[in-house]
Amino acid sequence: MTQGAAEFLVRSAEISDLDAIFALECASFEGDRLSWRALRRFLKASHRPLLVARSGGRVIGYVVISLTPHARSARVYSLAVEASQARRGVGRELLHAAERYARAHGRDALRLEARYDNAPAIALYERLGYRNFGRYPGYYADGAEALRFEKALADKGLRK
Ligand SMILES: CC(C)(COP(=O)(O)OP(=O)(O)OC[C@H]1O[C@@H](n2cnc3c(N)ncnc32)[C@H](O)[C@@H]1OP(=O)(O)O)[C@@H](O)C(=O)NCCC(=O)NCCS
Repeated sequence: MTQGAAEFLVRSAEISDLDAIFALECASFEGDRLSWRALRRFLKASHRPLLVARSGGRVIGYVVISLTPHARSARVYSLAVEASQARRGVGRELLHAAERYARAHGRDALRLEARYDNAPAIALYERLGYRNFGRYPGYYADGAEALRFEKALADKGLRK
């Protein structure tokens, strides 16, 4: 469990969080959404790759981390924060938690993508030290391009 800078906690998601996570996924993305079933699969996975930020007894953000066997890096599969809670540091804490998760699972880098025009996500990633190392043309359902980001995860400097 992580105590964020503001009044929220980051912890592994429980099955009781599923509907709220799905509602947030739907509110946050117009297309290319994770389905309820896909989220439930992540929730039930033994390595617990779905983390939530909770405040006042409800889910205000989540991050899903994908671990490919034998890969050097882990990947953020989805990340979202409730719009009413923006700029409180929730996205930052979720990404820091994802970085610790990746390290704990033996990965030495974390990768993620952002739609080319997703200015808040790009600003967040760059602020946290992610480097744009490539792009995926036509990545999204509407043909939009994704920018690929990576951060090396050294033991030193990772926030506890
Ligand atoms: C991207 C997103 C996760 C950011 O979450 P957040 O909790 O608002 O971000 P934080 O408060 O932790 O921001 C940390 C830093 O990132 C940068 N940042 C975040 N949002 C920003 C914005 N809208 N404009 C400019 N910079 C921004 C800032 O440097 C910020 O630090 P500051 O507030 O001290 O200036 C959130 O906007 C979101 O859920 N968007 C919809 C879903 C999405 O696009 N997910 C990511 C792609 S998969």
